[in-house]
Amino acid sequence: MQNIGIVGTGYVGLVTAAVLADLGNKVICEDCNYQKIEDLKKGIIPIYEPGLQDKVLKNIRAKRLKFSHRLPEVVKKSKIIFICVGTPPRKDGSADLSSVENVARKIAQNMKEYKIIVSKSTVPVQTGEWVKRTVSMLNPHKVEFSVVSNPEFLREGRAIEDSLHPDRIVIGVEDKKAERTMRQLFKPIRAPILVTDIKTAEIIKHASNSFLATKISFINAVANICEKTGADVNKVAEGMGLDKRIGRAFLRAGVGFGGFCFPKDLSAFIYIAKIAGYDFELLNVVQKINETQKQLLVKKIEQALWIIRDKTIGILGLSFKPDTDDIRFAPALDIIKILRNEGAKIKVYDPKAMRKVKKELKYVKLCQDPYEVAKNCDCLVIMTEWDEFKEMDLRKVKRLLRQPIIIDGRNIFEPAEMHKLGFIYKGIGR
Ligand code: UDX
Repeated sequence: MQNIGIVGTGYVGLVTAAVLADLGNKVICEDCNYQKIEDLKKGIIPIYEPGLQDKVLKNIRAKRLKFSHRLPEVVKKSKIIFICVGTPPRKDGSADLSSVENVARKIAQNMKEYKIIVSKSTVPVQTGEWVKRTVSMLNPHKVEFSVVSNPEFLREGRAIEDSLHPDRIVIGVEDKKAERTMRQLFKPIRAPILVTDIKTAEIIKHASNSFLATKISFINAVANICEKTGADVNKVAEGMGLDKRIGRAFLRAGVGFGGFCFPKDLSAFIYIAKIAGYDFELLNVVQKINETQKQLLVKKIEQALWIIRDKTIGILGLSFKPDTDDIRFAPALDIIKILRNEGAKIKVYDPKAMRKVKKELKYVKLCQDPYEVAKNCDCLVIMTEWDEFKEMDLRKVKRLLRQPIIIDGRNIFEPAEMHKLGFIYKGIGR
């Protein structure tokens, strides 16, 4: 059992806290957002993440999980302190590390005995060095400490499962004492542990996300060739994925990747490379293909409708992927913006993201279900592959639509079946 402090209760922080508490550790979390901590104390979770609420409530009741407004209290009560604060993108693509620095300073000023300071936020290489320097300089009692990089690989929507059964755990560490403690902490998870130096661990995170984004842009580029030649990208992906060296994952063609990680981490890696003196051209193209996918989808809508102005277009799915209410950098929001600018009337529905979208989207009609969206629409656009959409009564949808047009940005239906049902149907790459 370890005493653990978590600073920042976003996706990464809160899930890490819940999982480590569930493994029997004593965990105390702090966040600079006062209301968030007040809510969490009452068991109110600010995000939708399957299984998270149960774990948080269970561990609050078991007195293994606590929330505090006071960072000094967290530092005092913990041996291992995880920094899980946000590193949002700046205009030039670099990550804004001011929150990380601020937390490092406060930890330094409040430590009175040995601490392990773990960076879990996605940070550029050399952040560990900066944390070490900051803590050394501002540490009034000259207390011994270790800095560790432990990048997080969890996916939203599967965060608990990914944390309990990760493919690997990466620990960037420079001393044996901290390595032993971290190994011990993660032992119950029973995943392969890779121990590296801190800089290598930091690069592993950026390289992994950039590689996955590359896979997606690659298959999207292939999808465009498939469309032009009459091939089926889903089958192409299946054929490629059966080769173990390639693997099936992340070869789903669609309207492109979004979310708070891929777009931001990709920009940050391009920026890191540039600063290091290397022009990572490949990743620039990965980004470009991702942007083009959205424009191509709008073109498909145009081809189906001819004129967009004054047409009513229904958007199904707003979150950047299923099983999350997260709409940050969601392709749906970009598409809505483009269509609005073209003069379309927009109706939307998402199974989980409606609450978040209310604040973001003005001038769109928020609907209760997919059928309300379909009613009197000129075209239905699928932006997120929620099961609820896969299970829709398509005959009913067709009756409700003004024109039986479906543009499927996530390939959730079979073209032949859709045509048989009488739809004008266009997917991606087939
Ligand atoms: C990602 C990484 O997977 C995770 O390891 C890291 O910690 C954070 O970033 P996440 O952003 O939660 O996780 O979502 P992920 O499931 O990876 O999907 C990212 C985006 O790629 C989504 O918009 C998704 O729709 C898209 N995607 C994914 C595709 O378009 N095609 C695919 O084949 C896979």
